[in-house]
Amino acid sequence: MNTMYDDTVAVVENRPLTGGHFLLSLDAPRQARATRPGQFAMVRLLGRSDVLLRRPMSIYDVMPRGAKKAGGPALRRRKLRSPLQHPQPEIIQLLYKIVGRGTHLMAELKPGDRVGLLAPLGHGFLEEEYLARAQAADEVLHVAGGIGIAALLLPARDLARAGLRQRLFFGGRTKDDLVGLEKFQPLVEQTILATENGSRGHRGFVTQPLASFLERNRKKKFLMMVCGPWAMLEAAVKLGKQFGHPCLVSMENRMGCGLGVCLGCSIRVEGTGHSAYQRVCTEGPVFWAEKIVWQQE
Ligand SMILES: Cc1cc2nc3c(=O)[nH]c(=O)nc-3n(C[C@H](O)[C@H](O)[C@H](O)COP(=O)(O)OP(=O)(O)OC[C@H]3O[C@@H](n4cnc5c(N)ncnc54)[C@H](O)[C@@H]3O)c2cc1C
Ligand code: FES
Repeated sequence: MNTMYDDTVAVVENRPLTGGHFLLSLDAPRQARATRPGQFAMVRLLGRSDVLLRRPMSIYDVMPRGAKKAGGPALRRRKLRSPLQHPQPEIIQLLYKIVGRGTHLMAELKPGDRVGLLAPLGHGFLEEEYLARAQAADEVLHVAGGIGIAALLLPARDLARAGLRQRLFFGGRTKDDLVGLEKFQPLVEQTILATENGSRGHRGFVTQPLASFLERNRKKKFLMMVCGPWAMLEAAVKLGKQFGHPCLVSMENRMGCGLGVCLGCSIRVEGTGHSAYQRVCTEGPVFWAEKIVWQQE
């Protein structure tokens, strides 16, 4: 069982970005120190009887108080030794998009306001599983759709510190959806952008430049790490399979408890009977792509 904490924590900053996205910084030392790449938090809006359920959000970043930039110290080749991204992180950052009532109310949070924070949750990217596969590959390819980028920054920073080559494929509807790049770019060799309306990067889905890249680099071995909307996950996973590259996906599903109790987040996986379902909140949110049944009933 992971160490998790359920605290009432203070908002440090709630910075508006483009396209209805926000970067929320919370003063949450216990949760920040316990966080591993790919884990998530459940945010409770206090005093709101109309928004009872907590909202799940990927832990985008952890950092010490007062850190202006999360790029961190100069990256250098070293053995990956700690799940922590910074010495003594105390702030948790969540990168979110307004989609409904809960996130609309989150956008109104001001410095000094308090929220309930249950975190860190889920297995995230388990170091013992992904690090060996990443080291065996020529390069790690991150594939992010919109706000899916929030789940990939911490693993990318860990891999950069381990000296591994990485590339980011990042797609959104418009250029306003391409948030969070500032912290990601120093960690990767190249960033390939795509927008559906062509306002930045390739016009179309991000899986199109990804397919061309995989075609051009047929002889190379990649580990793919993917997070985004279901259709994008499915398309990226299909490409991974077609070109023979292992693929880790960070899944989203509607969540009630975040603790493995309500079963509301279950998805179909390979198996029969009870073993045909796994909970995104506890067995995930990160899964090997081949484990998931992509045609969910
Ligand atoms: C593991 C995980 C990580 C996530 N990380 C992020 C992130 O980093 N940034 C971000 O912007 N969004 C993230 N999401 C999606 C985010 O949880 C939803 O956008 C949010 O809960 C919507 O709440 P709402 O009240 O604004 O919308 P409503 O549609 O009004 O929400 C109604 C209910 O549905 C649930 N819900 C709605 N959409 C989702 C969804 N996609 N996933 C899970 N529950 C949902 C809400 O929690 C709520 O209980 C993540 C979801 C999961 C499961
Ligand atoms: S959200 Fe309740 S079991 Fe996963």
